[in-house]
Amino acid sequence: MTGAVCPGSFDPVTVGHLDIITRAATQFDEVVVTVMINKSKRGLFTVDERIEMIAEATTQLKNVTIASWHGLLVDYAKQEGYTAIVKGLRSANDFDYELPMAQMNQKLTGVDTLFLTADPAYSFLSSSLVKEVATFGGDVKDMVPASVHARLLARIAERKAE
Ligand code: PNS
Repeated sequence: MTGAVCPGSFDPVTVGHLDIITRAATQFDEVVVTVMINKSKRGLFTVDERIEMIAEATTQLKNVTIASWHGLLVDYAKQEGYTAIVKGLRSANDFDYELPMAQMNQKLTGVDTLFLTADPAYSFLSSSLVKEVATFGGDVKDMVPASVHARLLARIAERKAE
């Protein structure tokens, strides 16, 4: 039985994330998408909301589950018995950011990181850009799952009313 952790902030999940999750699910018997909790950052969505949105978008992937974790990612992987981390790589910038983390994680626990190259159609896509564009009224409909799009517009409207 092979299993991998697919970690991230997922604030919110995008179609680029879903492409990586879907492809990871063809390579491993089990994939756990893990929403990493960063208490020093106020997200647009709560961790529970992020989990719900990922769950709604991955119902068809029967070997994908969702979890959250606060602390070191490798402690979660070790605790749950996962031997691999899967990440998407959009660009050389991603590689420069990811390489030291992958090496640190390998050094700490022996858990290896496997990179899947992003579909070029999504290589510009990030949760941060989606939020920024949507905040200023840009069309991000094709960049997130439909249920995320609805929640995104609603949350942005709520925040503007605050
Ligand atoms: O979606 P993101 O924000 O690019 O994901 C980055 C994330 C959350 C996967 C990364 O920052 C992480 O693994 N954080 C957990 C804390 C940790 O293990 N830090 C040590 C990394 S060597």
